Amino acid sequence: MKIYITEVGPRDGLQNIKEIISTEKKIEFINKLSESGVDEIEVSSFVSPKAIPQLSDAEEVFRNINRNKNVIYSALVPNEKGLERALSVNVDKISVFTSASETFNLKNINMTIEESLNKFKNIIKISKEHKKLTRAYISTAFYCPYEGKIEEKKVFQIALKLLEFGVDEISIGDTIGKASPDDVRNLLSVLLKEISIEKIVLHFHVTYGMAMANVYVAYKEFSIYKFDSSAGGLGGCPFAVGARGNIATEDLVYMLKRIGANVNVDILKIVSALDILGIESQSYISKVINLL
Ligand code: COA
Ligand code: ZN
Repeated sequence: MKIYITEVGPRDGLQNIKEIISTEKKIEFINKLSESGVDEIEVSSFVSPKAIPQLSDAEEVFRNINRNKNVIYSALVPNEKGLERALSVNVDKISVFTSASETFNLKNINMTIEESLNKFKNIIKISKEHKKLTRAYISTAFYCPYEGKIEEKKVFQIALKLLEFGVDEISIGDTIGKASPDDVRNLLSVLLKEISIEKIVLHFHVTYGMAMANVYVAYKEFSIYKFDSSAGGLGGCPFAVGARGNIATEDLVYMLKRIGANVNVDILKIVSALDILGIESQSYISKVINLL
């Protein structure tokens, strides 16, 4: 199966950055990423500007990017207001987000898990009526900064609910980057009993240095082929203390190519997209780019 990469740098990356990045720079960044071969770009979030001021220009970014017809342009939507905003600029794919931890969900979106699921049922329904693709994130699916280890069963139950609502895929988020390869194996063993592979996306952060090993296990042992990553390894959730960046797209692509996966992303284009922002890359590959 061809690897499916969702580049989340413009959203997960920029939501956590102190520097102010101009709207023009974001647009240029996304346009460059659009030429790299990634399948999907998570462009921004239609959330409260008080929660994430860095992404308050979501409409303007969406209106001004050049859309490559081979790329799906998605965005996070937490509620009806966010959905309305997203539909007004013709977002291709609507991504809702909940968490497997009650405490984290309250801090992140001010809803219990159950409240968020009730809201998402309707958002997914309306999105589908508008012929939009849909995704649901389950954040803190392995560990929560407040509640510690999360039980596999909890993630499984939330995932089944979301699939019942008709969501196209579930992105399983290791928001604080603490999952070990064994944790990944344990969770996938439970999820894949009832859920088919094309519905599962993995979203790893590098905090404890295990993200790449986690991808390896998911790909080699379970044939998972959908991954989230960010150019330069930018990323992190402001509501999860200590969380670091996403797995870097260029590192992910490099490893997948080395282990024989079918992946068609141009590493040099990813690295040069990040240059537009003038932010230092956290990736390994950007340090040895001259040796490739
Ligand atoms: N877009 C823009 N503004 C929004 C909004 C949206 N989707 N949803 C709510 N707001 C505004 C409301 O208009 C209101 O504004 P006001 O204070 O000027 O009247 C304010 O935000 C509070 O609205 P309310 O509905 O009471 O929401 P809340 O305070 O319970 O916050 C969320 C809930 C979901 C809107 C907020 O927590 C949020 O945006 N979280 C996103 C977190 C995130 O993106 N995390 C990183 C991703 S993992
Ligand atoms: Zn993330």
